[in-house]
Amino acid sequence: MVHTKFFIKTMGCQMNEYDSDFLAGSLIDLGLSPVDVPEAADVLLINTCTVRAKPEQKAYSLLGRFSEIKNRKSDVILGVVGCLAQQKSAELLKRFPGIDFVLGPRDLSGIRGVIQELQSAIRKRKKIVATELENSIPAPKTAFTRSNGGVTAFVSIMEGCNNFCSYCIVPYVRGREVSRSPDDIILEVRNLIACGVKEITLLGQNVNSYCWAEARETSDFVSLLAKLDEIEGLRRVRFTTSHPKDLSGELIECFGTLNKLCPHIHLPFQAGSNEVLKRMKRRYTREKYMDHVARLREVVPDIAITSDVMVGFPGESEQDFESTLDLIRSVQFDGLFSFKYSDRKGTVSNEMPDKIGESEKSRRLKILQSLQKQITLIKNKAIEGRTVEVLVEGQSKKGGQLTGRTGSNKTVNFISDKEVIGEIVNVYIERGFLNSLRGRQLLRM
Ligand code: 5AD
Ligand code: SF4
Repeated sequence: MVHTKFFIKTMGCQMNEYDSDFLAGSLIDLGLSPVDVPEAADVLLINTCTVRAKPEQKAYSLLGRFSEIKNRKSDVILGVVGCLAQQKSAELLKRFPGIDFVLGPRDLSGIRGVIQELQSAIRKRKKIVATELENSIPAPKTAFTRSNGGVTAFVSIMEGCNNFCSYCIVPYVRGREVSRSPDDIILEVRNLIACGVKEITLLGQNVNSYCWAEARETSDFVSLLAKLDEIEGLRRVRFTTSHPKDLSGELIECFGTLNKLCPHIHLPFQAGSNEVLKRMKRRYTREKYMDHVARLREVVPDIAITSDVMVGFPGESEQDFESTLDLIRSVQFDGLFSFKYSDRKGTVSNEMPDKIGESEKSRRLKILQSLQKQITLIKNKAIEGRTVEVLVEGQSKKGGQLTGRTGSNKTVNFISDKEVIGEIVNVYIERGFLNSLRGRQLLRM
């Protein structure tokens, strides 16, 4: 059987979305084409996440579903990649015998070889497991990353993490920090621009510690941003994620000096209590975080600030939780990703005493989310009557409208001609909702 169609299910973070685009590009290069439903594919891939218990459970249930497809069509190639693949490795094969290969996030560049090997040995197919965590410089993925036809794209600038926050599995599944060379990054950005991309989001677990040092050339994150700002055809640059302990004054200044850098920063705070931050090994205080916010707003008064926060970290008292709510009220975030703490095997917090019960975590999360909803709505309503610049990304799911985002990363839906897709247009905001803004395009001069 010649395998011709593939389906990739992506779970987890933007880094996984980026990796999945790379996998798709690699498979297209082998002559396969993507399909929309798993039942129509003969190569099935799941790109997994293990940062919390929920995505892990989702991956298992999807593996169950894909295993059933494989039971019906034994020629199907079933692969598991990404962070859960890294963590569980060959163990996954025991639980789901239909799996043909397991690749960790650092082994994805081998995907073409793996598929070719499995195709040629279809009768006596062996299992392939590659979950080495060598800290080599990531293999250039430039040849196979391509735009998925959109106006925006992700570009990974570094992989891994050296921080070891006490709750976090990432350093164990994505390894230590390694940065890509500026040349490799710039080449990828240029390729994307040639495909019609106008906005890129630079990805890394902690982009502030991006560091390329070679005899010939050194580059930190600020100088990388400066280089990207010069690239013709590129309209907007974003980055995620930043760690508050490494947010430098120089980087904050960039929001005021670099034309293409969008007025938005995602700066996870995780908790508002200094005691909890200490046990999380975050290495900043609530006061330091608030200083960053003040400084960012000095440089760009209406910069959008979004964040990640957790409730129910081991030992989190009612008072600690109140400190988190208080920080949210003080900062007035534009948006928040909020999670219930979940134990991850192998992390330091997994062994901590005074775990918080599930129902208490749910109660705290509900209170926090309802507070943030009020703030987000007030913030979005404050934009009513203002004119904003929108990079038009495509047609919105709701018929007849176009959709795009402001520099501050808010979704705007409006009526206009399809010909403005890929352009930055002025939109007058008529209504602000919880998850989007609605407006009308102003005539161009
Ligand atoms: N439990 C709950 N949330 C977690 N995160 C990371 N590890 C855990 C965990 N063990 C959250 C953090 C991080 C986001 C990507 O996921 O808020 O910023
Ligand atoms: Fe999930 Fe973290 Fe892996 Fe992203 S890096 S997929 S968030 S575990």
